[in-house]
Formats: sequence, structure tokens, C-alpha cells
Amino acid sequence: MTANPPTRLNQLRQAARGMLDGLSERDMARQPHVELSPMLWHVGHVFFVESYWLAERVFGDTRATDPWHALYSPEDCAKAARSAAVPDAEELLAWTHSVSVDNDVYWQRAVEMDHPLLTGGYLHAFVSQHYAQHLETMRLALAQLALADKPAPATAWDCAAPSRDAVIVPAGEVTLGHAAIEAYDNERPPVTTTVEEFAIANAPVSNAEWAGFIANRGYDRSELWDADGWAWRQKIGVDHPQHWRHLADGRWGIAGLRGEAAAPDEPVHGIGWYEARAYARYAEARLPLECEWEAACRAERLANTGLVWEWTDDAFAPYPGFRAFPYDGYSRPWFDGAHFVARGASVHTQADIRRPSFRNFYPPTHRHVCAGLRLAW
Ligand code: AVJ
Ligand code: FE
Repeated sequence: MTANPPTRLNQLRQAARGMLDGLSERDMARQPHVELSPMLWHVGHVFFVESYWLAERVFGDTRATDPWHALYSPEDCAKAARSAAVPDAEELLAWTHSVSVDNDVYWQRAVEMDHPLLTGGYLHAFVSQHYAQHLETMRLALAQLALADKPAPATAWDCAAPSRDAVIVPAGEVTLGHAAIEAYDNERPPVTTTVEEFAIANAPVSNAEWAGFIANRGYDRSELWDADGWAWRQKIGVDHPQHWRHLADGRWGIAGLRGEAAAPDEPVHGIGWYEARAYARYAEARLPLECEWEAACRAERLANTGLVWEWTDDAFAPYPGFRAFPYDGYSRPWFDGAHFVARGASVHTQADIRRPSFRNFYPPTHRHVCAGLRLAW
């Protein structure tokens, strides 16, 4: 007798619980970074969100969610307050198992039910992608916990000049976005737009190239920076990517994409949008527009994607005809001019959200998100 293969949702649930494996009680409960929630919160939050949309909203059953709204609804509990409020791992894991049993019954019943959230399998896709996105964020959190504990491995290499190795994408029309059921609201409705001819690099900027930017005093030349970027740079005193450390012997200690010693030719990460813009000016290039990135991706002209998110030049904004769903807070609050779009995927990104239309978005100062950049001209 063979057991049924686990469904993707079950794999994602299991992976979420598994993120706690091997962590100390302290590391489970503490904030790994000011912008990140404790690991225990993420695990509770993903099961809460599944239960909220399925059990509470579709079936009106609030037993699983009632006690936890105040903790697991992000808008109801400030990040800094979450450490003190999370249950311990034993209690949390028991709760995730019991709500999964209940939710499995609801997913079964959902098959025969007529409800706007269930049409075409929408809710199942939304919940699965929500698990997938938080799995990535938990991996970013683990990277921060590791960075705090042990010095980044020593790395030595020569600096490299900015590469101009690029491909030309001819002018043409491109349809941005995604019409399938799993699309997020910010990918809809698909929009057709014209893109002028442009060139786009064949690889993201490497660690060696970023070391060249530092050696050429890129962090000290105000003329390379946007005014608000320069103000941030001065205030924080930043002079290298977040995952780099000055070592006593003058070399760099750099945590690579998977936490190991970084290779010189691997894409730089640990940089925010302000730094990406400064590097592009230094390289006498620019960041690609979102529409250029997607056009190049759809034309299969983009090489070496998928290791780091790639900052684009654009602030996160709705496509014409945007409608918020399944709730206003998923995308709309971040159409505020203070969030910028990163495209592609990182080593931490699950397959569930890897698609040419997917739009990630962060403030220009966020550097823990495994983002780098690709130049355009
Ligand atoms: C798209 C990654 C910026 O983590 O804030 C997860 C995704 N939204 N739960 C985030 C998200 C609600 C979002 N990012
Ligand atoms: Fe979430």
C-alpha cells in the first residue's frame, strides 16, 4: 500500500514547520533584524492566514482564528511586539497540526461550494503562494540569525570594472502581468505597452564589480547618489553591502547567497535600491524599467536570473484597471512612492511564485531581501 503523495499545500505547511528545526528557543523567538519578525511568528502567521481565509471567511468558523487575530494580523501587532507575544514551539506546532486537520476538511468541502474566493481554485493558489513567500522571508531571517552569530567567511579577490556585456532588445510591444488564477492583484489586469530599444546586461552585478565600486569610493561620491539616498547613506554611515564585513587583515568577509564564503563572480546581494541607483550611475548605466525587465524576460533574452531579486527603476504602482483583492492591504498600501519593484527571484524563492510577471516590492533602504541589480542602457 502506498500513501498518497503529499499535496503541494502539505509540503508547504511541512516546510514552514521545518524552518524551526535546529533553532534554539531564543533564536525562534527573537527578531532576526528590525525589519523581520521572529521565526515563531512567521510559522503561526502562515497557518493563521490559511485558517482566516478558509475557515473564517468562507465557512464562518472562527474557532481557530479568534484567539490569534491580535498577534498574527500584521496590522494589529507591531513587529517589535511579536517576540514577547508568540507561543512556544510546542504549543505553536500542536496548533498548526490541529488547524490543518480542520482545514483539510474545509478544502474538501470547498470543492463543491460556490463562493467568490473559491472560483477557479483562487483561494488555494493564494494560500499556497502566501506560504511560499513567507518561506522565503524565513530563509532571509535565518540568514540574519547566522550573520549575527558568526563572522562572514573571509574572501579575497581583485576588483572588477563594470561589465558591459549585454544583449539588445528591439523596440516592440509587450504584455505585462498575468491573467491566470494564481495572479496577485498587482499583476492584474495584464497591460500591453510599448518598449523602446534598450540594452540589458547578461548578468547581475557581481561581488567583484561591487568591490570595484567600493574601491572607487562609490559610497563617498555624493554625485552618484539620489538626494534622499545620500541623506540615508550619511545618516546610517553605510559603506558596504549588508552581508559584508571589514576584517582585521583588510580583506572582506562576505556571506554568499547561501551563507558560505562568497565567490567573486556571484551576484552581489545585501544592497538596497539607493545603492543600486548609485552603482548604475557609477557604471554609466541605469536600472532597467519594470516593463523592460519583463519584456526581456518574456523574449528569453535575460541570462543568469533567479539567484538574486533585481532592483528596477520603478516605484511600485498599480497597472491601469487595478482592483484590490483578496484584501485592500495586500498591495494598495505599498503604492505609496516609497516602495520600489524588484523582479526575478532569489535562491530563496519557491517555484510557486517564479514567473516573469511577479512583482516584489520593498522600501529603498531594505538590504536583507537578497536583492542585487542588473544594468541597462
Ligand atoms: C511581497 C514580500 C513584500 O512579505 O511583505 C506576505 C509578501 N504579503 N504576506 C511581504 C506578503 C503578505 C510581501 N512582499
Ligand atoms: Fe503574510
